[in-house]
Amino acid sequence: MEEFHKVRRLPPYVFEQVNRLKAAARTGGADIIDLGMGNPDLPTPKAIVDKLVDVVRDPRTHRYSSSKGIPGLRKAQANYYARRFGVKLNPDTQIVATLGSKEGFANMAQAITAPGDVILCPNPTYPIHAFGFLMAGGVIRSMQVEPDENFIPALERAIRHSTPKPLALILNYPSNPTAYVATLDFYKEVVDYARKNELLILSDLAYSEIYFDGNPPPSVLEVPGAMDVAVEFTSMSKTFSMPGWRMGFAVGNERLIAALTRVKSYLDYGAFTPIQVAATAALNSDGAEIEEVRAVYHRRRDVMVDTFARAGWEIPAPAATMFAWAPIPAAFRHLGSLEFSKLLVEKADVAVAPGIGFGEHGDDYVRLALVENEHRIRQAARSIKRFLGTTGETLDNVTPLAARR
Ligand SMILES: Cc1ncc(COP(=O)(O)O)c(C=O)c1O
Repeated sequence: MEEFHKVRRLPPYVFEQVNRLKAAARTGGADIIDLGMGNPDLPTPKAIVDKLVDVVRDPRTHRYSSSKGIPGLRKAQANYYARRFGVKLNPDTQIVATLGSKEGFANMAQAITAPGDVILCPNPTYPIHAFGFLMAGGVIRSMQVEPDENFIPALERAIRHSTPKPLALILNYPSNPTAYVATLDFYKEVVDYARKNELLILSDLAYSEIYFDGNPPPSVLEVPGAMDVAVEFTSMSKTFSMPGWRMGFAVGNERLIAALTRVKSYLDYGAFTPIQVAATAALNSDGAEIEEVRAVYHRRRDVMVDTFARAGWEIPAPAATMFAWAPIPAAFRHLGSLEFSKLLVEKADVAVAPGIGFGEHGDDYVRLALVENEHRIRQAARSIKRFLGTTGETLDNVTPLAARR
C-alpha cells in the first residue's frame, strides 16, 4: 500500500541508524559515550523545580490552562526581551507561549504556508526548520548557513530564481549544528533586504544564552523595523536546562503571532499551569541559574577542543550553542558522515550525530554535543586517539561500498 502523502515527505530519521548501533553496542556491554543527541543532561535548577512542586499542590492549577500562555508568563518574556535585548514587546499581541520552540516553529509553518510556498532554509540545519514547512506543504530552497558577505548575494539569487517568490527566510544563530553566530550588522542587512522584498523572517534563537566568549548573541528584533517582518523563537530548554518541560516562545510581528495563536487555539490548551508558573519564576530570576548552565558548557567545550586536538582531531571551538561542528578527519572524509559515525560507535565507543542528518551540505562533518561531563569527554578523547592510531587498519576493513557516492 502506498505511504500516506505526509509520511512520504518525512524520510526515516538518519540519527536512528546511529541510535540502533548505539543500543546494540550497549546491549553487548559497551560503555558508549553519547555525544550524539542535543539532550541537556544538567538537572533543572532547584528553585524552578521547587516552584513547580509548590504550585502543583493547588488543585486550581489542574484545569486546562491558557493556550497562548498565562498573562504573567508572557509579561516575564517581555521583561526578558527588554532586559536582554532592549526590545519592547506587547505581551498581549506580540508574544505567544509555545510547547517548546519546536512546536511553535512547526505550527507557525502550518499557520502561514500555502501549498507550494517557497521557504528559504539554511542547510545544514536543525531538521524541523525544513520539515516543519515540508509537512505544511511548502517547498524548501537551501541557503548557505555562514552569516558572511556571500549571504545577501545568495539571498538575491534565491529570490530571483524562485517561483513563486519566497514567503519566508529561516535564520538560526547561534546555529545548530554549525555553531555559527550572527552579528547585529548581519541582521541589519538581512532585515533591510527582507523589508524591501516583502520576505518574512523566522529567527530561531534557541541558544540565546549558551555563549562562551563574552559576546551575547543579538536578537534580530533589535534591528529597527524588524518587527514589520520578523518573528523569533526562544526556548527554556537549554537556557534553564528544562528540555522535558516543553516551554518556549514566539515573539515579534503581530500578524504572524496572531496566526500562530489562532492555530494553537484549535490544537492545545497550553502547557500545564504549574509549568507555566515555574517558567515565569525562572524568567523573572536574577540570571544566576543561566550563568551556571553556561559555565558548565563552557568548561566542557574547552575540555573537548583541547583533548580532541591532543588526540589528533582538530575541532574549531564553538563560540556558542552546546555543540561542536567537527570536520571529519581527512582520512575518513570519503566515507561520509553516516559511515564515519557508525565507525566511531563500533570502534571507539563514541556516539556522534552525522552531519548528513542536518542536510546534504553537512556530510563532511559530525556534530558533537556537550552533554557528557568533563571526565567522560576526556575518556572519549582517549578512545578516539586509539581509534585514530589504527586508521590504516580500519580503512582496510571498510568495504568500498561504504564510501558515499
Ligand atoms: C536550533 C534549535 N531550535 C529549536 C530546538 C528545540 O527546542 P525546544 O526544546 O524549545 O523545542 C532545538 C533543540 O535542540 C534547537 O537546537
